[in-house]
Amino acid sequence: TPVLTNPLRPALLAAARSPRAERGITRMPVTRRIVDRFVAGESREAALHAVRDLVRDNRFVTIDYLGEDTVDPAQADATVREYSAMIQALAQLPTPADDPGVPSTHGPGMLLAGTSPRPLEVSVKLSAFGQALPNDGHAVALRNASTVVEAAAAAGVWVTFDMEDHTTTDSTLSIVRELRRDHPETVGTVLQAYLRRTEDDCRAFADEGARIRLCKGAYNEPEAVAFRRKRDVDASYLRCLRILMQGKGYPMVATHDPAMIEAAALLATSVHRGRDDFEFQMLYGIRPAEQQRLTALGQHLRVYVPFGDQWYGYFVRRLAERPANLMFFLRSAAPG
Ligand code: FDA
Repeated sequence: TPVLTNPLRPALLAAARSPRAERGITRMPVTRRIVDRFVAGESREAALHAVRDLVRDNRFVTIDYLGEDTVDPAQADATVREYSAMIQALAQLPTPADDPGVPSTHGPGMLLAGTSPRPLEVSVKLSAFGQALPNDGHAVALRNASTVVEAAAAAGVWVTFDMEDHTTTDSTLSIVRELRRDHPETVGTVLQAYLRRTEDDCRAFADEGARIRLCKGAYNEPEAVAFRRKRDVDASYLRCLRILMQGKGYPMVATHDPAMIEAAALLATSVHRGRDDFEFQMLYGIRPAEQQRLTALGQHLRVYVPFGDQWYGYFVRRLAERPANLMFFLRSAAPG
């Protein structure tokens, strides 16, 4: 039975965490060109350029400053500073709603009383904020995350916490719950449908009225904690989707899978969720035509825009999830 869609997935996901593989792959001259398909650039300015284009095209955005697995407190501090600077820059951007010539894309939300979806968001990996530091990693990550959430709340920008491998899930969700106490509308989190625990997590967060980004999951997880066959992951995704759609929160449907997208649209209609009561999300550079199709239908579609020079892990996870991406890379890298 295939392990998800790609038999090379476990090997690639191991490479995503190998410094030796990183040195090899990042030095290949061809890599840069292919990375550009998935990453908006290395600088804040490059990312903002991509953001302006997407916002002008009526798409929402979430910005990710690339980096993960930091065990250097100074690097975690630098990451926090970059997020703070990015949030300030986002706050200065005109959104379509500011332009009287463009019809507003965000009316009053039905389920998040008194709020509407924010077009601008940042996505944060807590391992880049020091979560993996020995001894006090959890506390350091919480403090750093709190700094960013305060800045984002003041600027009207949302923050969603990415989900990494399953050894971090409890720590991440406890930080999310702590931060949601003061900022329930600003703070949301990712949940990964491939984890066996996620249906229960969806139920709890849907009851709390939380903003949840549901994705399939991109790490190499053991059978004991995760579904590993594509059809089991998909079935779990659909069960989680139903719980979130029927719950009190704001579901963010993060997938490129046509079957999941169609199911989400049908479920939303069946529970009378309007356009402001849920959204679709896709990664930068993936299925741009589908992104535009959903926006043209009047749905909210948010693009996850990664930037920065620490793109290696992110890039290799994209190769792992789709044989076509990998083949494209290997063909371009082949001599002659
Ligand atoms: P999957 O990879 O199963 O593909 C299903 C189908 O979708 C394909 O058969 C094809 O039809 C279509 N498709 C997919 N890619 C395509 C392409 N490039 N071109 C054309 N068709 C394509 N993961 C994680 O572990 N933690 C996280 O925090 C996040 N965060 C996150 C945010 C956002 C906004 C997104 C969209 C995704 C994530 N992910 C993530 C990644 C996620 O877990 C998952 O690895 C990828 O989204 C791939 O899974 P899909 O749901 O797209 O379907």
